[in-house]
Amino acid sequence: MKGSKTVFVCSECGYTNPKWLGRCPECSSWNSFVQEVVAEPSSKKSIPSAPVSNNKAEKLSELTVTEYFRSKTGMDELDRVLGGGLVEGSVVLLSGEPGIGKSTLLLQISSELSRGRKVLYVSGEESRGQLKLRAERLGIAGDSLYLLTETDLDVVLVECERLRPDVLIIDSVQTLSSERFTSAPGSITQVKETSMALISYAKTFGAAVFLVGHVNKEGGISGPKVLEHMVDAVLYFEGERTNSYRIIRAIKNRFGPTNEIGVFEMSDRGLVEIPNPSEVVMAERPKNTSGSCAGCVMQGTRPIISEIQALVTKSAYSSGKRTSDGFDYNRMCLLIAVLEKRMGLKFYENDVYLNVAGGIHLDEPSADLSIAMALISGITDKVIPDHLIAFGEIGLAGEVRAVSHIDYRVKEAVRLGFTKLLIPKKNLTKTLRRYEGVEIVGVENIYEVLVHMVKREQDGLL
Ligand code: TYD
Ligand code: MG
Repeated sequence: MKGSKTVFVCSECGYTNPKWLGRCPECSSWNSFVQEVVAEPSSKKSIPSAPVSNNKAEKLSELTVTEYFRSKTGMDELDRVLGGGLVEGSVVLLSGEPGIGKSTLLLQISSELSRGRKVLYVSGEESRGQLKLRAERLGIAGDSLYLLTETDLDVVLVECERLRPDVLIIDSVQTLSSERFTSAPGSITQVKETSMALISYAKTFGAAVFLVGHVNKEGGISGPKVLEHMVDAVLYFEGERTNSYRIIRAIKNRFGPTNEIGVFEMSDRGLVEIPNPSEVVMAERPKNTSGSCAGCVMQGTRPIISEIQALVTKSAYSSGKRTSDGFDYNRMCLLIAVLEKRMGLKFYENDVYLNVAGGIHLDEPSADLSIAMALISGITDKVIPDHLIAFGEIGLAGEVRAVSHIDYRVKEAVRLGFTKLLIPKKNLTKTLRRYEGVEIVGVENIYEVLVHMVKREQDGLL
């Protein structure tokens, strides 16, 4: 191609190099370089000596603050993840695996958003017929909801110019391309330039834009990571294809807290919100089984109670097998090592299978105590009382360390009917609210929990 040259771009971070490299010097990922064609600029542009601009730096003290205008999406679970609603002029990247429910969610919220606002839903993946059929199935109507099936960015921009939508949904950003950019559709440069054009539209006209992004097999958004830097909020849609629960998690949010989650269930009428996930998870809890303990983790501002299950069986081999689902594997091994060293429990002779019920991922150290208790219960075969819940971080000496947001956790545990709470002693302050009929016990180390783990003291544990 005349007037163009090729460069090699790292598909992970967008780093460019004139030659192919096996390993990216920027983000250290292997085998991530792909070849792309870039157009040579027709003439070298130089910065004008005196740029014409009205944009001047202002003193911070003189700046006036304008409140963000937020629109409700009709789904409280999503609104919370967004920080209280969709902010006007913001760009939100929604990413997830194929078939997880991205298109379904966006079509569902389009209906509510189109009340008094113009919504343009651009699909590069489905036909009008398919979209209409899905909308009918979801019971979606809306006079100001416009559908466009298009993969050419420039046509989309012309339609945006004509319709001036308040909310623009692009499903997906990888399917859009423009002839103005010389690289192939779906390539990193195309995705980057396309997103740039859409972000600039959002900022110019104050429209809220949703970009759907596919994830690659490693779980990252295909295309450069730069996409995550360019947008205002990044939401990950998580869930197993085999179970119907779906979680939306804010990884980045310029207008709200991160790590906030929204919980949904995929039904035959689209996604249904689950406002009380703890109740759903705990409803299926088996009674009188060893190796089960209730724990609580904070997901953003919300405490979620889940059941931890540990199955400990005699190992057929010299070294026991360990698996962990929903909790960090290495952290589980560390907790097992603490229990072996400090309490003399012989996990090394056993296989250990750890599972967090309900598909929730416990990525907070406050789950340590409940995990340790489930493991102890699993190896000793003693049943932990159903009404008991525990939270606390465990140190290498077996000490139980304080956790954050203790009041939220206690309140949620009491709401779910737990009457005995084991919490770190440091958290047991006078300010902690007392609840009638609820025993809150402060524990200092892992040995102290043993007496609380059995129904009657004389049962003994070890
Ligand atoms: P979809 O939104 O197309 O996923 P994505 O856009 O993330 O690729 O969701 C597709 C899946 O959801 C598909 O397997 C069918 C299922 N589904 C339902 O179970 N109920 C419904 O009402 C709808 C619309 C889809
Ligand atoms: Mg889709």
